[in-house]
Amino acid sequence: MTNNDEKVIFSGAQPTGTLTLGNYIGAIQNWKALENDYQCLYSIVDLHSLTIRHDPKAFRESCLSLLAQFLAAGLDPERNTIFFQSHVPQHTELNWILNCVAYMGELNRMTQFKEKSERHKDNINAGLFTYPVLQAADILLYQTNLVPVGEDQKQHIELARDIAIRFNNAYGDTFQLPEIHVPKVGARIMSLQEPTKKMSKSDEDINGTIFLLDSDKVITKKVKRAVTDSENKVVYRDEQPGIKNLMTIYSKLANITIQQVEEKYTDQGYGNFKKDLAELMVESLRPFKEKYQQYMDNPDYLEEIYKKGAKRATTIAERTMKDVKEKIGLV
Ligand code: AMP
Ligand code: TRP
Repeated sequence: MTNNDEKVIFSGAQPTGTLTLGNYIGAIQNWKALENDYQCLYSIVDLHSLTIRHDPKAFRESCLSLLAQFLAAGLDPERNTIFFQSHVPQHTELNWILNCVAYMGELNRMTQFKEKSERHKDNINAGLFTYPVLQAADILLYQTNLVPVGEDQKQHIELARDIAIRFNNAYGDTFQLPEIHVPKVGARIMSLQEPTKKMSKSDEDINGTIFLLDSDKVITKKVKRAVTDSENKVVYRDEQPGIKNLMTIYSKLANITIQQVEEKYTDQGYGNFKKDLAELMVESLRPFKEKYQQYMDNPDYLEEIYKKGAKRATTIAERTMKDVKEKIGLV
């Protein structure tokens, strides 16, 4: 135990499809390392996902599936509060209030908004624009100290901080100022096909992404086909982004340092390294897949977990909302 046990960690993930190895290494492994030392809340941010068109039936499945994936990845529902964002209405309540604090100008600068409006030209809805404000509400509701996310979320966390500062200055100290927590290694797992681009659920080239529920055969194939270079030397250098990325993955899954990976594979070519990496990946993900199926076969248990999570989260959220409402002068 450290003296951090009073500190709050909050993070959110959208229920869009299967988790990738990028989510696993960049987010969940990082979360697990924190569960003993902090008060951790993880939300499946279903309301955020409504900014993209969806099929209700498939969406519902995805939400439950993500919960099962969290549990299968080893998040302990006793030590962590795991819940659906839509089950705690204070998120949307605070969202409105913060909408009146956030500026159009700063929302307009968000790269994720620009990217998503480019990708979904026929559906640039208002929710997509104010998405980061709902995210700020998620974070600020729980008086969050640290937000463990990948690097791509930095801008959103900074915005949440700016909104908190502005609110506190206007109405008196109300919100804890959150900080981003990015792991040193693994913050950005790159595409296996385009190693200068982030590994993503929504990549058009599925060969670039390892999904946690991919079959052993598919995983092996994707690793074998991973883009490298002609150097044939397993060294960690920016000039070799492909091999650098594979080494990062190896180091995270085997829980050894990059240097140890380098030492292990000096004078061995890419072939051997890739073969070992594929095996390591398959073995690392096997227990995950088994547990996932067990959870999906047990919807009553999932319900028990998400209800308990929402109840715990609501207790904290209510406290913050009471303070917020008083501070801004709502009768
Ligand atoms: P998303 O898949 O965009 O909903 O992201 C869920 C969480 O995983 C966020 O904290 C992301 O920053 C993190 N994440 C997503 N993709 C990667 C990646 N390729 N490398 C590292 N972290 C990632
Ligand atoms: N926007 C985040 C993503 O795309 C998901 C998210 C929503 C989130 N609310 C959050 C992350 C609060 C951290 C904290 O990954």
